[in-house]
Amino acid sequence: MTRAAVLAGLGGWVPPRVVTNDELGRELDTSDAWIHSRTGIRRRHVVDPGTATSDLAVEAARRALASAGTDRVDLIVLATSTPDHPCPATAPAVADRLGLNGVAAFDVAAVCSGFVYALAAASAMIGQGLAGRALVIGADTFSTILDPADRTTRAIFGDGAGAVVLRAGDDREPGAVLGFDLGSDGQHSDLITVAAGGSRQPATAGPVEDAARYFRMRGKEVFFNAVLRMSESAQTLLRTVGWNPEEIDRFVAHQANIRILYAVADQLGLDRRTVVANLDRVGNTVAASIPLALQDAACRGDLVPGQRVVLTGFGGGLTWGSAAIRWPDIAVEPLPTIHPDLNHSN
Ligand code: COA
Repeated sequence: MTRAAVLAGLGGWVPPRVVTNDELGRELDTSDAWIHSRTGIRRRHVVDPGTATSDLAVEAARRALASAGTDRVDLIVLATSTPDHPCPATAPAVADRLGLNGVAAFDVAAVCSGFVYALAAASAMIGQGLAGRALVIGADTFSTILDPADRTTRAIFGDGAGAVVLRAGDDREPGAVLGFDLGSDGQHSDLITVAAGGSRQPATAGPVEDAARYFRMRGKEVFFNAVLRMSESAQTLLRTVGWNPEEIDRFVAHQANIRILYAVADQLGLDRRTVVANLDRVGNTVAASIPLALQDAACRGDLVPGQRVVLTGFGGGLTWGSAAIRWPDIAVEPLPTIHPDLNHSN
C-alpha cells in the first residue's frame, strides 16, 4: 500500500453565452457543415467582456468542493494559458475568493496539456506529504486571445473551467491516481503561439500590433503531432500502470477534434465506444477540456465506479501527458449553464 492522491470531487463551469456554428457562419466565411464535419463541434460557450479566467475557475472549484463534500484544501494548482494578468499567477486570487487565503497556490502553463500537468504536480505533492487535500483546476478564456477574423481558431475554441479535488489516500482505493506520463517537444514551439506579451516581444498598444497578441495555430501540423504524441503517451502510461488497451473502460482525451480522438483510439486499438466526447457542445476549452469531459461523462452516467480511465492531453509547447485513474464513487452536478435542450444533438 502506497500513499497516493485520490480523486474525491469533480465540478465544471462554462459561461452562459452560447455561440453556434451558424452564428459564426453569419460573421465569417464558414458554415455549420464545414465545422461539424471537420471537427465534431456544434457550439461553444464564450465569456462576456469583463469576465476573466479566475471567474470561471472559482465557479468550477466551488462545484468540485461541493462534490467532495468539503470547503477546505491546502493546495491549489491552476492550469491556464489565459491568466487574469501576465503577473502575478491567478491561483492565489482564486484561493482568496474561495475563502482559502493562505494556502499554497500556483499556476501551471502547459496550454491544452495543462490539466494533466497540474494533476501530476498536485498528486506528487500529496504523495510527498506536502499537501493533504488539493484543488486542481483547468480554466481558460481563449475567446479573449483569438483573432476575430480567424475562422479556423474561432470555430474550435470555447471558454470554460473544470476542477477536481484530490485527497491523500492509498493506491488501492477507488479514485487513486495510479500513474503519469509527461513530455514535451520545444522544437515545435512555433506550431501554437501568441507572439507578443512576453519578454521576447513585450505587448504594445495599437491596431498594427494587435495581430501579434492573437493566438495562432498551424492546424494540420498540430493535428498530426496530436495524434502521434497522444498515442505514444497513452501507450507509455499503459506500460507504466500495467493495463492492456482492451482493459480501458473510458478514454478521456483532450477535446480538440473528434477526428483526432478517433485516430488516437484507433492507434491504441481501443473500441471507439470508450472515447468520451463533449466537444460538440463546448468545443476545445484548452486546460478545462479534460475535467469538463469528465464532468459531462460522470453526469450522464457514462463514468461509473471501478472503471479504468485514461486521461490524455496534448497542446502547445508542444506538451503532452497522460494519467490513469480507477473511477471513484463521487456525486457530480450537471453544468447549469448548458441548456438541456442543446445537449446531445449531434
Ligand atoms: N470554415 C471553412 N473553411 C475553413 C475553416 C472554417 N472554420 N477553417 C479552415 N478552413 C479552410 C482552410 O482555410 C483551407 O482552405 P484552403 O484549402 O482554401 O487553403 C481548408 O479549410 C482546409 O484546411 P485544413 O487546415 O487542411 O483543414 P483540416 O481538415 O486540417 O482542419 C483543423 C483544420 C484546424 C480543424 C484541423 O487541422 C485541426 O483540428 N487541427 C488540430 C487543432 C488542435 O488540435 N488544436 C488544439 C491543439 S491543443
